[in-house]
Amino acid sequence: MDVPFLDLRAQHRPLKQEILAAWDEILDTAGFIGGKHVSALETEFAAACSAGHAVAVSNGTDALMFIFKALGIAPGDEVIVPANTFIATSEAVSIAGGRVVFVDVDPDTYTMDPALVARAITGKTKGIVPVHLYGQCADMDPILAIASQHGLWVVEDAAQAHLAEYKGRKAGSMGAAAGFSYYPGKNMGACGEAGAVTTNTPGVEELVRKLRDHGQAKKYYHDIEGHNGRCDALQAAALRIKLRHLPAWNEARRAHAQRYMELLADARGVVLPKVAEGRLPVWHLFVVQVDERDRVAEELKAAGIATGLHYPVPLHLQQAYQHLGYGEGRFPVSEAYSRRLLSLPMYPELTEEQILHVAGALRAAVRG
Ligand SMILES: Cc1ncc(COP(=O)(O)O)c(C=O)c1O
Repeated sequence: MDVPFLDLRAQHRPLKQEILAAWDEILDTAGFIGGKHVSALETEFAAACSAGHAVAVSNGTDALMFIFKALGIAPGDEVIVPANTFIATSEAVSIAGGRVVFVDVDPDTYTMDPALVARAITGKTKGIVPVHLYGQCADMDPILAIASQHGLWVVEDAAQAHLAEYKGRKAGSMGAAAGFSYYPGKNMGACGEAGAVTTNTPGVEELVRKLRDHGQAKKYYHDIEGHNGRCDALQAAALRIKLRHLPAWNEARRAHAQRYMELLADARGVVLPKVAEGRLPVWHLFVVQVDERDRVAEELKAAGIATGLHYPVPLHLQQAYQHLGYGEGRFPVSEAYSRRLLSLPMYPELTEEQILHVAGALRAAVRG
């Protein structure tokens, strides 16, 4: 039996006619940039995230970059980022002019370790970027407390955590602002590229709106230099349709995670993901730890199962960050996990048979 890592065709099959009808109207009116679908998506997504405002943009990387610019990053300002995340988190800091400072992650939740954040603060630190990795929120209360003690801002990277919750609060509603990705494979993905900023901070919404549109609030009157980082109408229309299904899709992911947990509970050799107290994850990824990870992945592949690595090289060891001078051994948790983590297929459309097949093949591969 084949189990793909992701099955976007299955997601789109029941939505196709509705999406095509919306796109048909857009083609007829030729209103490709901005317009009613973009503003409606912003209103609907802000409400879904319990955030005051949302601004739809070109992708999740730009969302974060616009936030950092709106918060006024200056050259030399330090921003604390976890070493185990996708490079977009740190890229956005550097593109906005800041200096990335990495910290290690918590061994249980894989998200930023608050105790290490406190130790990484210097006189130049301006902000902290917790990443709600794999769909589980970072430990926001201690991070927010450290930030307020030191007068720092907190920006949530919520690219993998649409509608995840932390102690009853939604991802994207807790920090100064949050960046979301609507990359096709995300819990809510566009049919192309898109992203969003959510914020409750006065002034940030307006600035991000300007930054995404060449610094203009009125056409050809440029208050500042910005960028072309708009979300187009075709993406917004498809995303509005998908947003209506997102709570049910997240529920299905939770049921699949529960099933994996039951089937693998006594599998020696498989360390299952842990959900910390007060957190409601949305299981963007279902990530286990195994010995001999590459051999296990090969055996799953031979059984027709596609897996992923998130992430095979921690950011501080990437070629792109050699100039920052971190060496091997600096962040032991991220380094060890880069060799042990394996992402299993996880998407709402997974079937019971597929989950049984994955769990069985994994047990056989780890001989547990
Ligand atoms: C943690 C994280 N941050 C940021 C991004 C950037 O999003 P995008 O690919 O839409 O630019 C992604 C997704 O790729 C991500 O996984």
